[in-house]
Amino acid sequence: MPDRSLSNVPPVTSTAAVPDGALPPAALPAAPTALPNGALPPAAATPPASLRVLAEYPDLRYRDVFWPGRDYEDLCDRLALRSLLRPAGERLLDVGAGFGRLVDEYGGYRAVVLLDASEAHLAAARERFAGVRRVAVVAGDAAHLPFPDASFDAVVCVRMVHHLADPPPVIAELGRVLRPGGELVLEFANKRNLKAVLRFLARRQAWSPFAPGSAAYRTAHFDHAPRDVRRWLRSAGLQVEATRTASLLRVPVLSRHLPLPVLAAVESPLQRWLAAVTPGPSVFVRARRRPG
Ligand SMILES: C[S@@+](CC[C@H](N)C(=O)[O-])C[C@H]1O[C@@H](n2cnc3c(N)ncnc32)[C@H](O)[C@@H]1O
Repeated sequence: MPDRSLSNVPPVTSTAAVPDGALPPAALPAAPTALPNGALPPAAATPPASLRVLAEYPDLRYRDVFWPGRDYEDLCDRLALRSLLRPAGERLLDVGAGFGRLVDEYGGYRAVVLLDASEAHLAAARERFAGVRRVAVVAGDAAHLPFPDASFDAVVCVRMVHHLADPPPVIAELGRVLRPGGELVLEFANKRNLKAVLRFLARRQAWSPFAPGSAAYRTAHFDHAPRDVRRWLRSAGLQVEATRTASLLRVPVLSRHLPLPVLAAVESPLQRWLAAVTPGPSVFVRARRRPG
Protein backbone atom coordinates (compact mmCIF):
# COMPACT_ATOMS: atom_id res chain seq x y z
CA MET A 1 0.00 0.00 0.00
CA PRO A 2 1.57 3.36 -0.94
CA ASP A 3 2.29 5.77 1.87
CA ARG A 4 0.12 8.81 1.85
CA SER A 5 1.82 12.15 1.45
CA LEU A 6 2.97 13.90 4.56
CA SER A 7 0.70 16.80 3.83
CA ASN A 8 -2.10 14.53 5.02
CA VAL A 9 -0.57 14.11 8.45
CA PRO A 10 -2.64 16.29 10.75
CA PRO A 11 -1.26 18.04 13.81
CA VAL A 12 -1.31 15.91 16.92
CA THR A 13 -3.89 17.99 18.72
CA SER A 14 -6.20 18.43 15.74
CA THR A 15 -9.79 18.42 16.95
CA ALA A 16 -11.68 18.32 13.69
CA ALA A 17 -10.06 15.47 11.86
CA VAL A 18 -12.96 13.02 11.85
CA PRO A 19 -15.94 13.98 9.80
CA ASP A 20 -19.23 13.39 11.52
CA GLY A 21 -20.93 10.35 10.12
CA ALA A 22 -24.31 9.15 11.22
CA LEU A 23 -23.80 5.70 12.66
CA PRO A 24 -26.72 3.40 13.26
CA PRO A 25 -26.51 2.35 16.91
CA ALA A 26 -26.51 -1.30 15.87
CA ALA A 27 -23.21 -0.74 14.07
CA LEU A 28 -21.43 -0.21 17.34
CA PRO A 29 -20.48 -3.35 19.21
CA ALA A 30 -22.23 -3.96 22.45
CA ALA A 31 -20.29 -2.93 25.51
CA PRO A 32 -22.05 -4.90 28.20
CA THR A 33 -19.94 -3.83 31.12
CA ALA A 34 -19.34 -0.21 30.14
CA LEU A 35 -21.98 2.42 30.81
CA PRO A 36 -23.39 4.21 27.76
CA ASN A 37 -21.50 7.39 28.57
CA GLY A 38 -18.28 5.41 28.82
CA ALA A 39 -17.93 5.80 32.59
CA LEU A 40 -16.41 2.94 34.53
CA PRO A 41 -19.11 0.59 35.77
CA PRO A 42 -19.48 0.19 39.55
CA ALA A 43 -17.66 -3.14 39.41
CA ALA A 44 -14.52 -1.22 38.48
CA ALA A 45 -14.55 0.79 41.72
CA THR A 46 -11.74 -1.49 42.84
CA PRO A 47 -9.62 -1.48 39.72
CA PRO A 48 -7.93 -4.68 38.62
CA ALA A 49 -4.19 -4.94 39.22
CA SER A 50 -3.23 -3.84 35.72
CA LEU A 51 -5.10 -0.57 36.21
CA ARG A 52 -3.55 0.06 39.59
CA VAL A 53 -0.07 -0.42 38.15
CA LEU A 54 -0.72 1.68 35.11
CA ALA A 55 -2.77 4.52 36.56
CA GLU A 56 -0.08 6.94 35.57
CA TYR A 57 -2.00 9.20 33.23
CA PRO A 58 -3.91 11.29 35.76
CA ASP A 59 -3.56 14.42 33.63
CA LEU A 60 -2.97 15.49 30.04
CA ARG A 61 0.78 15.94 30.12
CA TYR A 62 1.10 13.13 27.57
CA ARG A 63 -0.88 15.27 25.12
CA ASP A 64 0.29 18.73 26.13
CA VAL A 65 3.92 18.19 27.12
CA PHE A 66 5.10 14.90 25.61
CA TRP A 67 3.85 15.32 22.05
CA PRO A 68 4.64 18.95 21.17
CA GLY A 69 8.04 18.88 19.47
CA ARG A 70 7.76 15.18 18.62
CA ASP A 71 6.39 15.52 15.11
CA TYR A 72 8.90 12.99 13.85
CA GLU A 73 7.82 10.28 16.31
CA ASP A 74 4.16 11.00 15.57
CA LEU A 75 4.91 10.70 11.87
CA CYS A 76 6.69 7.36 12.37
CA ASP A 77 3.69 5.86 14.18
CA ARG A 78 1.38 7.03 11.44
CA LEU A 79 3.57 5.74 8.60
CA ALA A 80 3.79 2.30 10.22
CA LEU A 81 0.07 2.21 10.99
CA ARG A 82 -0.87 3.24 7.47
CA SER A 83 1.29 0.63 5.88
CA LEU A 84 -0.16 -2.15 8.06
CA LEU A 85 -3.79 -1.31 8.79
CA ARG A 86 -6.43 -1.93 6.16
CA PRO A 87 -7.54 1.64 5.34
CA ALA A 88 -11.27 0.99 5.56
CA GLY A 89 -13.62 -1.38 7.31
CA GLU A 90 -16.56 -1.69 9.66
CA ARG A 91 -15.63 -1.72 13.35
CA LEU A 92 -12.27 -0.69 14.78
CA LEU A 93 -11.18 -0.70 18.43
CA ASP A 94 -8.18 1.33 19.63
CA VAL A 95 -7.03 -0.03 23.00
CA GLY A 96 -5.13 2.41 25.22
CA ALA A 97 -6.18 5.12 22.79
CA GLY A 98 -5.33 7.98 25.15
CA PHE A 99 -6.83 11.25 23.99
CA GLY A 100 -7.43 9.78 20.52
CA ARG A 101 -4.20 10.93 18.85
CA LEU A 102 -4.45 8.39 16.03
CA VAL A 103 -8.15 8.67 15.21
CA ASP A 104 -7.32 10.58 12.05
CA GLU A 105 -5.96 7.32 10.69
CA TYR A 106 -9.30 5.53 11.06
CA GLY A 107 -11.30 7.73 8.69
CA GLY A 108 -12.28 4.72 6.54
CA TYR A 109 -13.92 2.81 9.41
CA ARG A 110 -17.64 3.02 9.95
CA ALA A 111 -17.47 2.68 13.75
CA VAL A 112 -14.46 3.49 15.91
CA VAL A 113 -14.24 2.70 19.63
CA LEU A 114 -11.54 4.35 21.74
CA LEU A 115 -10.88 2.52 24.99
CA ASP A 116 -8.66 3.83 27.75
CA ALA A 117 -8.20 3.61 31.51
CA SER A 118 -7.33 7.24 32.20
CA GLU A 119 -10.25 9.48 33.12
CA ALA A 120 -8.28 12.55 32.03
CA HIS A 121 -7.67 11.07 28.58
CA LEU A 122 -11.19 9.76 28.30
CA ALA A 123 -12.54 13.23 29.07
CA ALA A 124 -10.23 14.78 26.47
CA ALA A 125 -11.30 12.23 23.87
CA ARG A 126 -14.99 12.74 24.68
CA GLU A 127 -14.58 16.48 24.27
CA ARG A 128 -12.64 16.10 21.04
CA PHE A 129 -15.17 13.75 19.46
CA ALA A 130 -18.35 15.18 20.94
CA GLY A 131 -21.01 14.94 18.26
CA VAL A 132 -18.96 12.57 16.10
CA ARG A 133 -21.38 9.66 16.07
CA ARG A 134 -19.04 7.14 14.51
CA VAL A 135 -16.53 7.52 17.36
CA ALA A 136 -17.35 6.11 20.81
CA VAL A 137 -15.18 6.62 23.88
CA VAL A 138 -15.25 3.79 26.44
CA ALA A 139 -13.57 3.45 29.84
CA GLY A 140 -12.03 0.07 30.54
CA ASP A 141 -9.06 -2.11 31.24
CA ALA A 142 -7.20 -3.68 28.34
CA ALA A 143 -6.92 -6.89 30.36
CA HIS A 144 -10.72 -7.14 30.72
CA LEU A 145 -12.21 -5.64 27.59
CA PRO A 146 -15.92 -4.89 28.01
CA PHE A 147 -16.90 -6.39 24.64
CA PRO A 148 -18.14 -9.79 23.50
CA ASP A 149 -15.91 -12.14 21.52
CA ALA A 150 -15.36 -11.32 17.86
CA SER A 151 -16.79 -7.78 18.10
CA PHE A 152 -14.29 -5.98 15.88
CA ASP A 153 -12.81 -6.21 12.39
CA ALA A 154 -9.66 -4.39 13.44
CA VAL A 155 -7.92 -3.70 16.73
CA VAL A 156 -5.09 -1.19 17.16
CA CYS A 157 -2.86 -0.94 20.22
CA VAL A 158 -0.04 1.62 20.05
CA ARG A 159 2.31 2.74 22.84
CA MET A 160 0.43 0.73 25.43
CA VAL A 161 2.04 -2.69 25.93
CA HIS A 162 5.30 -1.02 26.96
CA HIS A 163 3.43 -0.36 30.22
CA LEU A 164 2.85 -4.07 30.78
CA ALA A 165 5.26 -6.34 32.62
CA ASP A 166 3.14 -9.27 31.49
CA PRO A 167 1.47 -8.58 28.12
CA PRO A 168 0.00 -12.06 27.29
CA PRO A 169 -3.33 -11.56 29.14
CA VAL A 170 -3.87 -8.27 27.31
CA ILE A 171 -2.80 -9.74 23.96
CA ALA A 172 -5.24 -12.60 24.54
CA GLU A 173 -8.00 -10.02 25.08
CA LEU A 174 -7.06 -8.16 21.88
CA GLY A 175 -7.36 -11.45 20.01
CA ARG A 176 -10.60 -12.44 21.72
CA VAL A 177 -12.51 -9.34 20.60
CA LEU A 178 -11.30 -9.67 16.99
CA ARG A 179 -13.51 -11.56 14.58
CA PRO A 180 -11.88 -14.55 12.88
CA GLY A 181 -9.92 -13.11 9.97
CA GLY A 182 -9.79 -9.68 11.62
CA GLU A 183 -6.50 -7.88 12.09
CA LEU A 184 -4.56 -6.51 15.02
CA VAL A 185 -1.94 -3.79 14.63
CA LEU A 186 0.19 -3.89 17.75
CA GLU A 187 3.12 -1.63 18.60
CA PHE A 188 5.68 -2.49 21.26
CA ALA A 189 8.93 -1.06 22.57
CA ASN A 190 11.73 -3.17 21.14
CA LYS A 191 14.27 -4.72 23.47
CA ARG A 192 16.49 -5.73 20.54
CA ASN A 193 16.92 -2.19 19.20
CA LEU A 194 20.17 -1.10 17.56
CA LYS A 195 21.25 1.16 20.41
CA ALA A 196 20.87 -1.64 22.95
CA VAL A 197 22.73 -4.05 20.65
CA LEU A 198 25.65 -1.62 20.17
CA ARG A 199 25.86 -0.84 23.87
CA PHE A 200 25.84 -4.56 24.68
CA LEU A 201 28.55 -5.34 22.12
CA ALA A 202 30.64 -2.42 23.43
CA ARG A 203 30.22 -3.87 26.96
CA ARG A 204 28.50 -0.71 28.13
CA GLN A 205 25.32 -2.60 28.99
CA ALA A 206 25.15 -5.77 31.08
CA TRP A 207 21.91 -7.27 29.80
CA SER A 208 21.69 -8.92 26.41
CA PRO A 209 19.14 -7.56 23.95
CA PHE A 210 19.11 -11.03 22.38
CA ALA A 211 17.93 -12.84 25.51
CA PRO A 212 14.23 -13.61 25.86
CA GLY A 213 12.27 -11.78 28.54
CA SER A 214 11.23 -8.17 28.92
CA ALA A 215 13.47 -5.41 30.27
CA ALA A 216 12.22 -2.57 32.47
CA TYR A 217 13.77 0.71 31.32
CA ARG A 218 11.80 2.97 33.67
CA THR A 219 9.10 2.48 36.28
CA ALA A 220 6.18 0.74 34.53
CA HIS A 221 7.95 0.87 31.13
CA PHE A 222 9.14 -2.35 29.48
CA ASP A 223 11.00 -3.22 26.30
CA HIS A 224 9.79 -6.54 24.91
CA ALA A 225 11.68 -9.07 22.81
CA PRO A 226 10.28 -9.41 19.26
CA ARG A 227 10.48 -13.21 19.52
CA ASP A 228 8.42 -13.17 22.74
CA VAL A 229 5.81 -10.89 21.20
CA ARG A 230 5.43 -13.20 18.20
CA ARG A 231 5.00 -16.14 20.57
CA TRP A 232 2.37 -14.31 22.63
CA LEU A 233 0.49 -13.45 19.46
CA ARG A 234 0.56 -17.06 18.26
CA SER A 235 -0.72 -18.25 21.64
CA ALA A 236 -3.60 -15.79 21.32
CA GLY A 237 -4.59 -17.35 17.98
CA LEU A 238 -3.05 -14.55 15.92
CA GLN A 239 -0.78 -15.03 12.94
CA VAL A 240 1.86 -12.37 12.29
CA GLU A 241 1.66 -11.19 8.69
CA ALA A 242 3.87 -8.12 8.50
CA THR A 243 6.27 -6.11 10.61
CA ARG A 244 7.55 -2.53 10.55
CA THR A 245 10.41 -1.14 12.59
CA ALA A 246 9.90 2.51 13.44
CA SER A 247 11.63 5.68 14.62
CA LEU A 248 14.82 4.76 12.78
CA LEU A 249 16.10 8.35 12.53
CA ARG A 250 15.54 9.20 16.18
CA VAL A 251 18.76 11.14 16.42
CA PRO A 252 18.10 14.75 17.46
CA VAL A 253 20.40 16.22 14.81
CA LEU A 254 18.32 14.50 12.12
CA SER A 255 14.80 14.44 13.52
CA ARG A 256 14.83 18.06 14.69
CA HIS A 257 16.54 19.63 11.70
CA LEU A 258 15.42 17.78 8.59
CA PRO A 259 12.01 18.76 7.22
CA LEU A 260 9.27 16.22 7.95
CA PRO A 261 8.69 15.35 4.27
CA VAL A 262 12.37 14.42 3.96
CA LEU A 263 12.22 12.35 7.14
CA ALA A 264 9.09 10.63 5.86
CA ALA A 265 10.69 9.86 2.50
CA VAL A 266 13.62 8.15 4.24
CA GLU A 267 11.80 6.56 7.18
CA SER A 268 8.97 5.00 5.23
CA PRO A 269 10.96 2.59 3.00
CA LEU A 270 13.41 1.86 5.83
CA GLN A 271 10.51 0.74 8.06
CA ARG A 272 9.81 -1.97 5.48
CA TRP A 273 13.32 -2.87 4.38
CA LEU A 274 14.64 -3.29 7.91
CA ALA A 275 11.57 -5.10 9.24
CA ALA A 276 13.37 -8.44 9.37
CA VAL A 277 16.11 -7.15 11.68
CA THR A 278 14.00 -4.66 13.68
CA PRO A 279 16.73 -2.15 14.66
CA GLY A 280 14.23 0.55 15.65
CA PRO A 281 13.16 1.33 19.22
CA SER A 282 9.56 0.69 18.26
CA VAL A 283 8.09 -2.26 16.34
CA PHE A 284 4.68 -2.56 14.74
CA VAL A 285 3.18 -5.89 13.72
CA ARG A 286 0.04 -6.82 11.87
CA ALA A 287 -1.40 -10.13 13.07
CA ARG A 288 -4.55 -11.80 11.81
CA ARG A 289 -6.91 -13.86 13.93
CA ARG A 290 -7.01 -17.38 12.63
CA PRO A 291 -10.35 -18.48 11.29
CA GLY A 292 -12.40 -20.78 13.45
C1 LIG B 1 1.50 6.27 26.00
S1 LIG B 1 -0.25 6.39 26.04
C2 LIG B 1 -0.63 5.94 24.36
C3 LIG B 1 -1.92 6.53 23.87
C4 LIG B 1 -2.20 6.31 22.40
N1 LIG B 1 -2.27 4.88 22.05
C5 LIG B 1 -1.16 6.98 21.56
O1 LIG B 1 -0.39 6.27 20.90
O2 LIG B 1 -1.11 8.21 21.58
C6 LIG B 1 -0.71 4.93 26.91
C7 LIG B 1 -2.18 4.88 27.17
O3 LIG B 1 -2.51 3.57 27.64
C8 LIG B 1 -3.49 3.72 28.62
N2 LIG B 1 -3.48 2.52 29.46
C9 LIG B 1 -2.51 2.08 30.27
N3 LIG B 1 -2.87 0.95 30.85
C10 LIG B 1 -4.10 0.63 30.40
C11 LIG B 1 -5.00 -0.44 30.66
N4 LIG B 1 -4.69 -1.45 31.46
N5 LIG B 1 -6.18 -0.44 30.01
C12 LIG B 1 -6.51 0.56 29.16
N6 LIG B 1 -5.70 1.61 28.89
C13 LIG B 1 -4.50 1.64 29.52
C14 LIG B 1 -3.09 4.98 29.39
O4 LIG B 1 -4.16 5.52 30.13
C15 LIG B 1 -2.64 5.86 28.25
O5 LIG B 1 -3.66 6.66 27.75
